[in-house]
Amino acid sequence: MAETTAWAAAETFALGAAAADDIPVHFVPADGVDAIGSLDDVQRAWLKAQKFSGNGKRTVLIPGSDGNIASVALGIGNGQQGEPSGPSELLAGLLGSGLPAGTYRFASEPAHADLAALAWSLGAYSFSRYLKKDKNGGRAKLRLANAGSDRIINTAEAVWLGRDLINTPASDMAPADIEAIARVLAERHGADISVTTGDDLLAENFPLIHAVGRASPRQPRLIDMSWGPAGAPKITLVGKGITFDTGGLDIKPASAMLLMKKDMGGAATALALAHMIMGQGLKCRLRVLIPTAENSVGGDAFRPGDVLASRLGLSVEIGNTDAEGRLVLADALALADADEPDSIFVFATLTGAARTALGPDLPAFFTNDDELARSLPPLAASIGDPLWNLPLWDGYRRHLDSDIADMNNVWESPFAGAITAALFLKRFVTRARRFAHFDLYGWRTAARPLGPKGGEPQTARAVMEQLRRELTS
Ligand code: BES
Ligand code: MN
Ligand code: ZN
Repeated sequence: MAETTAWAAAETFALGAAAADDIPVHFVPADGVDAIGSLDDVQRAWLKAQKFSGNGKRTVLIPGSDGNIASVALGIGNGQQGEPSGPSELLAGLLGSGLPAGTYRFASEPAHADLAALAWSLGAYSFSRYLKKDKNGGRAKLRLANAGSDRIINTAEAVWLGRDLINTPASDMAPADIEAIARVLAERHGADISVTTGDDLLAENFPLIHAVGRASPRQPRLIDMSWGPAGAPKITLVGKGITFDTGGLDIKPASAMLLMKKDMGGAATALALAHMIMGQGLKCRLRVLIPTAENSVGGDAFRPGDVLASRLGLSVEIGNTDAEGRLVLADALALADADEPDSIFVFATLTGAARTALGPDLPAFFTNDDELARSLPPLAASIGDPLWNLPLWDGYRRHLDSDIADMNNVWESPFAGAITAALFLKRFVTRARRFAHFDLYGWRTAARPLGPKGGEPQTARAVMEQLRRELTS
């Protein structure tokens, strides 16, 4: 239980003073081969023979006269070819996974040097829990100056942690496993943690979390972690932790169910972000709430047409048991809102509709803070963790009306599914100053420079960058 390779992210770096045999890596802009110093005629001829010009997103190993690797050239093109957005130096993600074992250094400080170093580590991740180990002998390590290295390593660990959580199948990532990981994090950072499990959820008034999780023998729970001094700005993260989403009785077809181990991607993102906030010592009072459950099929499952109580008191008619994420989040949000935090950030693989609108690489985000709506997308794009603002458009609120309850959990129409889901969540938040909700896919559909195909805690780095600016100025 609670297995993760995240702490090995540090092994993608070598710390301390450069050694004479560190292998230099040249970032080569378009048509920039001539500007590379320290190449002899044979090496230049080698690059030419490979048709390497700096234009493509390519890596070429450059041999020395002894046949060893003397240096490495990475083409970064016009400077705007980051992955999936941001500066080209993010292409350093190609190196951490692609180079032979050894220690490397950047030949000269690239633009966005910290991002480039982070990209190296993000690109080096692989999910090997179920593979025979030790297939490849050793890692390619990047030489990092000690200054600033803590932040880079912590960020890489956080992303690796989020990926491990998402990639681990539901058989090994049940609500109890999410709890175990949260406890490891709390221990590492000296945070307080309490967990409400199974029937205690009813006694403690979390009826929706209980209802969604009650058909599974893997008991649902609410994880509540707190860290930092009272009196500092209160930031509350809420993450959807559905460890498997069958759809419940309104069951999903096989193709839609196949990837539903990733339906705890919001929880993974919230925990990754929490590791960054605590590890980098942001000046805030942090609270992390993870409602986690398995949305199963069984004789005790909640049903279409049921009317359920919620923590806030609003009754909810179940139009579809597959809209379970918003239900568990509603109870967690009611708890979050009660202590009037400055900010509530919600992370969830909430709707297929967000993917229909924006595709898998671009999470949707919703907020009542117009300034954040304007400033976050360009900031997020600039570090290669993009997102896009969609409106919390009140005109659709009435579509969540119910004939027999205070609200329905779905609007039975194919329209604006991501917006109505966001509006549903917003009903449970009235006191927090700022509300932001991130509807993410949580998955990279194919290998790219910043990581392999598989789980990705999208938006965690973007929100961290925003908070870092707000809380350290
Ligand atoms: N976890 C899904 C949403 C999802 C599906 C995210 C695929 C990413 C990829 C969520 O619980 C769900 O099933 N939502 C339904 C809501 C509908 C019943 C109103 C959806 O989006 O189809
Ligand atoms: Mn669902
Ligand atoms: Zn779901």
